[in-house]
Amino acid sequence: MSSTGSLLAHLECRACGIEVPADRLATVCPTCSGPLFASYRLNHWNGRGWREAISGRAATLWRYRELLPVQSVKAITTLGEGLTPILALGAVPEAKEIEVWLKDDGTMPTGSFKARGMSVAVSRARELGVRRMYVPSAGNAGVALAAYAARAGLPARVYLPQGTPAAMERACLGYGAEVVKGGSTIGEAGASARRIESGGGAFDLSTLREPYRAEGKKTMGFEIWEQMAPDGMPDAIVYPTGGGTGLVGMYRAFVQLQALGLLEQLPRLYSVQPENCAPIVRALRDGKSQATPWEGAKSAAPGLLVPAPFGSERILEAIRESRGGGATVADHAILEAVGHLARRHGISASPEGAAPYAALEILLRERAVRPGERVLLYNTGSGIPFLSAS
Ligand SMILES: Cc1ncc(COP(=O)(O)O)c(C=O)c1O
Ligand SMILES: [Zn+2]
Repeated sequence: MSSTGSLLAHLECRACGIEVPADRLATVCPTCSGPLFASYRLNHWNGRGWREAISGRAATLWRYRELLPVQSVKAITTLGEGLTPILALGAVPEAKEIEVWLKDDGTMPTGSFKARGMSVAVSRARELGVRRMYVPSAGNAGVALAAYAARAGLPARVYLPQGTPAAMERACLGYGAEVVKGGSTIGEAGASARRIESGGGAFDLSTLREPYRAEGKKTMGFEIWEQMAPDGMPDAIVYPTGGGTGLVGMYRAFVQLQALGLLEQLPRLYSVQPENCAPIVRALRDGKSQATPWEGAKSAAPGLLVPAPFGSERILEAIRESRGGGATVADHAILEAVGHLARRHGISASPEGAAPYAALEILLRERAVRPGERVLLYNTGSGIPFLSAS
């Protein structure tokens, strides 16, 4: 019996429909190599009772533990992550007719939303017997793995592309991880990581190449619901997309809440990408179910420099099923938004985290969001690691 009360049932591949046992270590679908997702026993479970129970628990994402995969309380590897603030932005000059809110994951341990996925994935990997881990990263995921691996007492290696902010590399080293640098994008860093690590016995925590980081990201959706539903869920959520697990995670949370009778309508999910690396927004506009690799990708936001996101079908599904959409933003607009968030609102955002603020004006102009609507921008990371670079 699980001491967390987790309702985890099995893993499933959405592309070919097969089920895989969840009680042993898993990576991708054994049949089609697509991403695997956790499935839970939600039928006949008392969602309303759960709603009552979570409100009395500690303010971390582990308050949602029944809908997370970790079975043993002893395996939980936590730095107190979760329940980050949702702030009213008041009047935003570029979008006066919209009620704008911002969820601030810059306040997470290790400074970004990546702590969510790593807390859950490291906890689960640990209880399934993993002794060493690695991840290719644009920076934040590497820092998060380094911290949670240290917390778990396990060694970790982080593969960073050239051009990663120096503060993030130093943070990885500071937490005791090994750092390997190479390649110009996270995709290239990932390819070299898999080559070097092949057969070495360390576990790969790359985005969507193991099933549990997405479960941690799901807690963004649970928190938005818990914090906002009493006064009104947002009509739209605007989120920066690189590898896409953030959007996929939130979508999964809202679908599960719907299945439990705790949420009527899904907020519309909008993906924001840099104009010189926008494979997801292009696929949306072209009506494609899969993204094609972006040639010559460039961006001022390193975490959004993902020219060929793995599992793009699932990202596109989350956006379309929620009746959302996408927008691209120029580098100069992203950097301007970093300044606006800091000076107008007192919020420290990384370039990725500021991209939704830059997109607001465009989404309003394109009538994707409409006057009178409640819109939640997601700040995915703190701007502090970027200060020394600017
Ligand atoms: C601060 C920040 N925001 C957003 C992203 C992109 O997130 P996702 O991979 O969920 O699309 C990253 C990825 O590195 C990031 O570091
Ligand atoms: Zn499959």
